[in-house]
Amino acid sequence: MFLTEPVLTKRIPTWPWGDPAERHVVSGEEYVKTGGYESLRKALSMDPSDVIAEVKASQLRGRGGAGFPCGVKWGFLPEPDGGRRYLAINCDEAEPGTFKDRLLVDFDPHLVLEGIAIACWACQLDTAYFFIRGEYRHQAHVMQQAINEAYELGVFGPQGLLKGASPFAVDCHLHRGAGAYICGEETALLEAIEGKRGWPRIKPPFPAVKGLFGRPTIVNNVETLAAVPPIIERGAQWWTSLGCDSTIDQPPSYGTKLVGVSGHVNRPGVYEVGLGLPLDALVTHEDYCQGMKGGRNYKACIPGGVSMGVLDTSQYGAELDFDIGRKYDIMGLGTACPVVLDDGTDMIMVARNIARFFKNESCGQCTPCREGSQWVYKLLCRLEQGDAQPKDLDLLTEVASSMGTMPGTTICGLADGTNWAVCTIVRKFRAEFEARIKGSRAVLANGA
Ligand SMILES: Cc1cc2nc3c(=O)[nH]c(=O)nc-3n(C[C@H](O)[C@H](O)[C@H](O)COP(=O)(O)O)c2cc1C
Ligand code: SF4
Repeated sequence: MFLTEPVLTKRIPTWPWGDPAERHVVSGEEYVKTGGYESLRKALSMDPSDVIAEVKASQLRGRGGAGFPCGVKWGFLPEPDGGRRYLAINCDEAEPGTFKDRLLVDFDPHLVLEGIAIACWACQLDTAYFFIRGEYRHQAHVMQQAINEAYELGVFGPQGLLKGASPFAVDCHLHRGAGAYICGEETALLEAIEGKRGWPRIKPPFPAVKGLFGRPTIVNNVETLAAVPPIIERGAQWWTSLGCDSTIDQPPSYGTKLVGVSGHVNRPGVYEVGLGLPLDALVTHEDYCQGMKGGRNYKACIPGGVSMGVLDTSQYGAELDFDIGRKYDIMGLGTACPVVLDDGTDMIMVARNIARFFKNESCGQCTPCREGSQWVYKLLCRLEQGDAQPKDLDLLTEVASSMGTMPGTTICGLADGTNWAVCTIVRKFRAEFEARIKGSRAVLANGA
């Protein structure tokens, strides 16, 4: 679905609505002048439980990858008991191909901060930690500046939210990561904020019950929180009029979504679209990607971070919504940041490159992930270099599919990511792998 007006990016000049050259950081003053923090004011006039009910009614799904309904997650918190309760904001964004949260932090950090303040009020969370990936040095600076401005505006601080409009006081801190992809996994992120090695925790208990420092904690993605102020401003019904109804995955795919497109397209970038927009429309439309680079043909697309798997040549028309996983044999919509590949792409190289990433980023706690990711990488190197035997292809899929949380063998979803990425590439481009094996040195030597 094409949008008639931007929602999350309304203050950021972005294609197709404005000239990106005019982008600048929206300051606290400018944000307030253009209606900023009015949604927080409205939320503060409501009972916290009504704010949660509104977000629940909007059926807003998490934008961090798993698509879990935001209002439902907020509802998992136990009743306040007088002790500390936390919000951890996930701005790790280390999934290859994903760069949509960066746009919000780069140019409209107060939109995110308003979402944070509303979430804290709704869930009665007194402390927010904004966790940002180590490589986002500039963005950390921008966000720290915005947090300082928000304190000056009285949004955060001991006087209570919004200059004491509510006596409920919230503090907001920035925490920089140190460059590990695994710290984006929500419990690894909590460990990292606690100052420990970023190792995922075994769940349950889930963070809502026992999170940061053993206390109730909500973990939300940056874009999820940025969607909260417009939902409070214009109501849940308005949000559900955007996006599309889902036929398979529930709740439906309502609202807008930031898609960060990279790869072989003429105009890569971050676009705001309604959920359900077909991939080919996004790639070919004049206002968006303006077609495939160099006039080449589309071959494949990794639709939402490399861990989600791959769409094949026949799946160019796939609708970008939460049904995409079950409809098109991939893990899911993920972060909805498509990497588009043309017909000159070597899919064995793609699989090997992805496997290398996961091998390097496995935290090593679980044997199937630690050992499996090494083997998958080695087998793919052998395949790519033309040294594989026919049996290596089955061995590759056997090892890759033995990794994953489904049988309960690993603690977190990183192993699943390796499995889906590699297995969908092999499944959907098997002929390419078989042709490489046919011409491999090992096979030719045996035949000679
Ligand atoms: C290996 C791994 C990496 C992840 N990286 C991120 C990330 O960079 N940003 C993010 O928001 N969620 C990431 N997630 C998902 C989080 O665990 C969590 O589901 C999300 O932050 C919840 O926010 P949401 O409900 O608002 O989407 C990752 C998950 C896994 C398994
Ligand atoms: S699945 Fe991999 S990354 Fe996740 S906890 Fe286990 S070893 Fe670490």
